[in-house]
Amino acid sequence: MSSTEALDLNNLPQHVAIIMDGNGRWAHKRGLPRTMGHRAGMDALRAVVKALDAIGTKYLTVYAFSTENWKRPEEEVGMLMSLIREYIYKELMALHRQKVKISIIGERERLPDDVRKKLEEAVEKTKDNPGMRFIIALNYGSREEIARAARCLAERVLAGELMPQDIDGQAFAKCLYTDGTPDPDLIIRTSGEMRLSNFLLWQGAYAELVVTECLWPDFREAHVHEAIREYQMRQRRFGGIIEGS
Ligand code: FPP
Repeated sequence: MSSTEALDLNNLPQHVAIIMDGNGRWAHKRGLPRTMGHRAGMDALRAVVKALDAIGTKYLTVYAFSTENWKRPEEEVGMLMSLIREYIYKELMALHRQKVKISIIGERERLPDDVRKKLEEAVEKTKDNPGMRFIIALNYGSREEIARAARCLAERVLAGELMPQDIDGQAFAKCLYTDGTPDPDLIIRTSGEMRLSNFLLWQGAYAELVVTECLWPDFREAHVHEAIREYQMRQRRFGGIIEGS
């Protein structure tokens, strides 16, 4: 049986979000520098994009660099930035052929100019593609995103464009980086850690969380399918009840 055979193709998550964790531990186990773990993580990302696209996933969001990751040693931050640039350089044509549409969430201003430009090129080149939306969270942090949305709404109130009583969940969500994207149905975290680490806190309110012990560089198509099978065993109630239970 191939690993897709056991998937219920009528109950696939339309938006999968991934916290790609465990690169450092993967490298440490092999006596390699942490940066080699990130490089190996790039191969996992390539395989996972392909696997999710192959089953018709509509949205994939990956946590590539958080607002807290700047606290890492300068050398590691520099390496992560150049890996992101390299990834776009190497993968853009293939992603474009796959009709993937790339977008970025997070605060772009602090990113090195060359990285920002490369990413913006990728967003522009793929903007009309009808395939999977591939959202890269870069210099992203949910608390910062939520504070930014509050600021934006406050400014609109001050400008007389909006009444405070008009601020509801929907108006708030429109000011988040993810405006126009449905909330994630499934959030996968690799490497066994059970936390959200400031990732999609608002959007993930009703997401199913699947944590796997697999370290990110080892994560491949079979693990994607395993996580989706676990998702398919969950009963999603969105705060309601299931009749008869
Ligand atoms: C967490 O592992 C991973 C990251 C901070 C970076 C994720 C980046 C990649 C997979 C590189 C490729 C990304 C793109 C978009 C090209 P960790 O270093 O915290 O691992 P540890 O918890 O084992 O130390």
